[in-house]
Amino acid sequence: MKTQIIIIDFGSQLTKLIARRIREIGVFCEVVPFNNIEKNFKSKIVNSRGIILSGGPSSVYSKNAPLLGDKIFKLGIPILGICYGLQLICNFFKGKVEKSDKREFGKANINILKKSAIIDQIYEPKKMYKVWMSHSDIITKIPKDFETVALSENSILAIIENKKKKIFGLQFHPEVNQTVKGSKIISNFVLRISKAKKDWNMNSFKTDMIYQIKKIVGKKKVICGLSGGVDSTVTAILINKAIGKQLQCIFVDTGLMRKNEPQEIESLFKKNFNISFVRLNASTFFIKKLKGISDPEKKRKIIGKLFIELFEQYSKKLRNVFFLAQGTLYPDVIESIAASGGKKVIIKSHHNVGGLPKKMNLNLLEPLRELFKDEVRLLGKELGIPKDFISRHPFPGPGLGIRILGEITRTRIKILKEADSIFINSLKEANLYDKIWQAFCVLLPVKTVGVMGDNRTYEQICILRAVTSKDGMTADSFHFDHKFISECANKIVNNVKGINRVCYDCTSKPPGTIEYE
Ligand code: XMP
Repeated sequence: MKTQIIIIDFGSQLTKLIARRIREIGVFCEVVPFNNIEKNFKSKIVNSRGIILSGGPSSVYSKNAPLLGDKIFKLGIPILGICYGLQLICNFFKGKVEKSDKREFGKANINILKKSAIIDQIYEPKKMYKVWMSHSDIITKIPKDFETVALSENSILAIIENKKKKIFGLQFHPEVNQTVKGSKIISNFVLRISKAKKDWNMNSFKTDMIYQIKKIVGKKKVICGLSGGVDSTVTAILINKAIGKQLQCIFVDTGLMRKNEPQEIESLFKKNFNISFVRLNASTFFIKKLKGISDPEKKRKIIGKLFIELFEQYSKKLRNVFFLAQGTLYPDVIESIAASGGKKVIIKSHHNVGGLPKKMNLNLLEPLRELFKDEVRLLGKELGIPKDFISRHPFPGPGLGIRILGEITRTRIKILKEADSIFINSLKEANLYDKIWQAFCVLLPVKTVGVMGDNRTYEQICILRAVTSKDGMTADSFHFDHKFISECANKIVNNVKGINRVCYDCTSKPPGTIEYE
């Protein structure tokens, strides 16, 4: 599949959303880091139909600002600059960008002054529209050969264009839902201005990936870290379609899985697929290494390292193993590292990305690295994977390890497993499981006083978390009716020794995250 649109990332947390919007249109796009331009220049950038310059935290006039050379602007490929991307365009074409007292954060209104291809059939001249801004630098002088298409209420340049060169700049963020018809602006750039092809669908992705896996792997063997969740199952089936018996799946029982989960996954996998599957019981190993550790990032790094150690040990028993396949997704990559070289803040080290040790003997094979979760589910359907796998709630690799806040002990694991099982079974009984993106329990490292019978209790708090989401990037807490939630709380307190209080978490993401660590 040919990349149609290239997004050059300058470190904005929103770059992934631009990619999302373009995929939603059915067009294949890729994000490349600004500091790897030379590497990507010939292979990707020159062959793309349109280039988007993302936002970013820098100022174009600061000493170490990420800038672009003139090559990109000489290609004749349509360019859209968003926020920092617009300022970069202005800077390059000798306009002026300066710090302003009139910072615009959040919702703002823009006035449309004239027609432009970028807003054609979306925004009309002499009308005002709501957009979402996040900037403190502004354009104080528009470059020669560019025209102003819109101004904000504060008279700040909001849209500019160079019609002849097909270069457009937006000071606001069209990728954010709060910008009225923002995704249509992106669509105008992608389809009408850049004339990109709508050839991104799961069937073409599947065919292309199978071809690429065959080519990369050759006659070598691959081991696949399987967790039984959607991502690793889809990874395994996809690789199996490409290389058949050269694939060996390894399921590691970390001792940090949900109640009865290892047994269920093993039997479900063996029943449905004819793929070599081995289960390693490593619970003692994991629990020992995590003893005394409370810091979330340390936990994640230890778990990531242990997984790799086990995979490497096992691969030595087999001959000719060169690759470790993982179900890493695009959001894991974005949230763990400055995904595309941009200066992002690390939020969590996902066990399969930032949690990996620096030195590894196996090469990673991650065919889902460019996909969002809902796209993986579609791919799963395309591959004929049964609903039992596809509709499972996501479960993070570090498992209950990042849901037991504070120290992980066998007793606390047992308590959380029991509470979680009550919560999940209640959801299934009430036909709520499939309406929720992800639900689970979390054990807090504090105790509170309660009373049971005539006795004082001093036990731990269990948090119920249930969220709705499209792809895990943003999420809202699920609205239960009070009866359901209080019945659940009662069941947990009455049946799980060690918990005497249950709370429901109403935080959305952002500002929260779905998991607690
Ligand atoms: P957060 O907590 O960052 O989670 O809002 C977003 C989604 O990612 C899952 N998650 C992980 N999945 N390894 C994984 O495979 C990890 O280390 C990891 N951390 C979080 C999380 O459960 C949610 O669905």
